[in-house]
Amino acid sequence: MAKARTQFTCQNCGTVHSRWAGKCDGCGEWNTIIEEDPMGGIGGGPSRAPKKGRPVALTTLSGEIEDAPRIETGISELDRVTGGGFVRGSALLVGGDPGIGKSTVLMQAAAALSRRKHRVIYVSGEEAVAQVRLRAQRLGAADSDVLLAAETNVEDILATLSEGKRPDLVIIDSIQTLWSDTVDSAPGTVTQVRTGVQAMIRFAKQTGTAIVLVGHVTKEGQIAGPRVVEHMVDAVLYFEGDRGHHYRILRTVKNRFGATDEIGVFEMSDRGLREVANPSELFLGERNEKSPGAAVFAGVEGTRPLLVEVQALVAPTSLGTPRRAVLGWDSARLSMILAVLEAHCGVRLGQHDVYLNVAGGYRISEPAADLAVASALVSSLAGLALPADCVYFGEVSLSGAVRPVAHTAQRLKEAEKLGFSQAVLPSASTDLPKSGNGRWSEMESLPDLVAQIAG
Ligand code: TYD
Ligand code: MG
Repeated sequence: MAKARTQFTCQNCGTVHSRWAGKCDGCGEWNTIIEEDPMGGIGGGPSRAPKKGRPVALTTLSGEIEDAPRIETGISELDRVTGGGFVRGSALLVGGDPGIGKSTVLMQAAAALSRRKHRVIYVSGEEAVAQVRLRAQRLGAADSDVLLAAETNVEDILATLSEGKRPDLVIIDSIQTLWSDTVDSAPGTVTQVRTGVQAMIRFAKQTGTAIVLVGHVTKEGQIAGPRVVEHMVDAVLYFEGDRGHHYRILRTVKNRFGATDEIGVFEMSDRGLREVANPSELFLGERNEKSPGAAVFAGVEGTRPLLVEVQALVAPTSLGTPRRAVLGWDSARLSMILAVLEAHCGVRLGQHDVYLNVAGGYRISEPAADLAVASALVSSLAGLALPADCVYFGEVSLSGAVRPVAHTAQRLKEAEKLGFSQAVLPSASTDLPKSGNGRWSEMESLPDLVAQIAG
């Protein structure tokens, strides 16, 4: 008799190892490797006769297909990140920390869609139907026609979905609770999660239903995280936000049918997530204009400009090695800016602790924030507040030169709209608006900026 073969799979990244190890080579996580049945869900059943397909010419399709057929929710922050609504026949993964609001936003989307006469089925594997109903009530969605099911077995779910009229949208909450009869591993393992997700994707392609899969990000790696299925689905959204703040940001990280740099901004209230149409106002809401160390960064996320405040605190250190702490920005990038300030601008920070924070729990990913960060640092060190009506943007190179960034006009327009009349920006900016009342001060290098702040 053939010996049953097993393999060792990392539950965090899915890397397969030939033997057990304490640490995964793939992702560097500890204690994430467990033994699994490699054939689970893939082979198994009786072999099937091959079916002959027919390739079609790409050009013959041009007349038939215009755009991906979409289901709009009417929640514009959500429609923005999906690229205009859920796509029929596609699978979308929504990832995020537990408790961040995935179930909440999807229940709101489900309710919105069913009000638009779409058939929506919400399959919950984590909560009982009564609990889901309670949440819906809180969201003011209890009267909508969303169909609820509390199931975790993949075969049962598929049987439930094939009952009655074909659904337009199915929400599976969450992939970590899915389990299939055909696989031996425990629910939550990579093999179970992959098999379950594969079955749901197959259902989506065959029926033209849009499927939304919820995946918890897991720190410990004892259960498989959303990363292991990212490559299988058509689009991936991540929910970000700080528990201490009520802002939630939905960010597109993969999208086969749209742009990947979009964000949707929400605010968590006692009646669910509220859309934030103008996030700049929100992020600048609690600003103290007179304190040193604060600079307003004019950023752009996807198609939308966004102003946020960058706060720095530079203080003499009492430690042998000064502290560097960053929230909302890349710490490697901060080290780079500190090095450029030291090397080219004569700003010595070796005896100072440096703390950097982006207001509102927001995370900046653009390198264009370099100039705002440098300004905030110098302002804090000098103890001089920056002009309250000034915004900053531009990338700083290792030589200390200030390099131009994209979307200059868009950044300036948003700044003017919110009452900012000055801007510090790169000197070689191309799409600088000719008209307008703003005063733009074009910087060639970081030393120029330091000299300007120090007055
Ligand atoms: P939830 O959507 O259950 O998170 P996830 O599905 O991502 O695990 O959201 C849970 C949090 O949201 C919980 O801490 C309570 C809070 N919340 C509100 O503040 N207001 C609301 O109306 C709802 C439904 C939840
Ligand atoms: Mg949930």
